[in-house]
Amino acid sequence: MKIAFLGIGNVGSALAGNLAGADHDVSIAARDLNSATVQAALAQSPALRAQPLREAVAAADIVFLATPFEANEAALESAGDLTGKVVVDCTNPVAADLSHGLKNEVSGGEFVQKLVPAAKVVKAFTIYGFENFIDSSYPGYGDLKPAMLIAGNDPDAKGTVASLSEDLGWVPVDTGDISMSLHLEYMTLLWIKMARVQGRGAGFVWGMLTRQP
Ligand SMILES: NC(=O)c1ccc[n+]([C@@H]2O[C@H](COP(=O)([O-])OP(=O)(O)OC[C@H]3O[C@@H](n4cnc5c(N)ncnc54)[C@H](OP(=O)(O)O)[C@@H]3O)[C@@H](O)[C@H]2O)c1
Repeated sequence: MKIAFLGIGNVGSALAGNLAGADHDVSIAARDLNSATVQAALAQSPALRAQPLREAVAAADIVFLATPFEANEAALESAGDLTGKVVVDCTNPVAADLSHGLKNEVSGGEFVQKLVPAAKVVKAFTIYGFENFIDSSYPGYGDLKPAMLIAGNDPDAKGTVASLSEDLGWVPVDTGDISMSLHLEYMTLLWIKMARVQGRGAGFVWGMLTRQP
């Protein structure tokens, strides 16, 4: 599958580099091929390539949205036709006081799905800091792998994103339709407050323990 990245900062460069390292065909959909962030991502992950934004998106089956939440509308508008594509929404609406950026009235995931109604939006790679997208490994827990909670309306699109999550070392957990994004966004706020405000640090994730019958 061909993957394009809108946004190649902390989150985008970590996910893009690791997906390219897992043998996926990954392009940076670049606003500016010579920007510092694009050049840094290319230097860090030689398997990546950068293409003009619309060209990369048009060729992709899956588009990762990894822009600041406030830039989502502009970024999606600049992307061209997203009909039928899987859009992986990695973005979080976070207000300056670390409350929900859309005042709980609607989730960021639903907001993004409304911006691109013809695309299949799956919320994923949001509930932890980017450090865990650089390195998702937590040795010492046997077969237990960290959980990646996802949400979206289209089962096939969620299957695709679940498979990408597995390639990146996560156990995907389907939480339901895109409206479940609101709860994922509160998990993000919880993680940020614990990790970055209380000083616990970025080296923790959630695990999913399921009782066997
Ligand atoms: N940081 C985290 O730990 C973390 C974890 C999970 C989720 N998130 C979410 O992930 C998203 C990205 O966070 P980040 O930390 O990776 O941000 P970042 O490092 O600031 O990177 C943002 C990227 O978006 C690009 N961009 C900005 N406006 C754009 C536009 N209109 N069109 C296309 N590209 C645009 C920037 O390009 P330029 O470099 O050219 O400006 C940059 O590549 C945010 O929504 C954040 O809430 C962050």
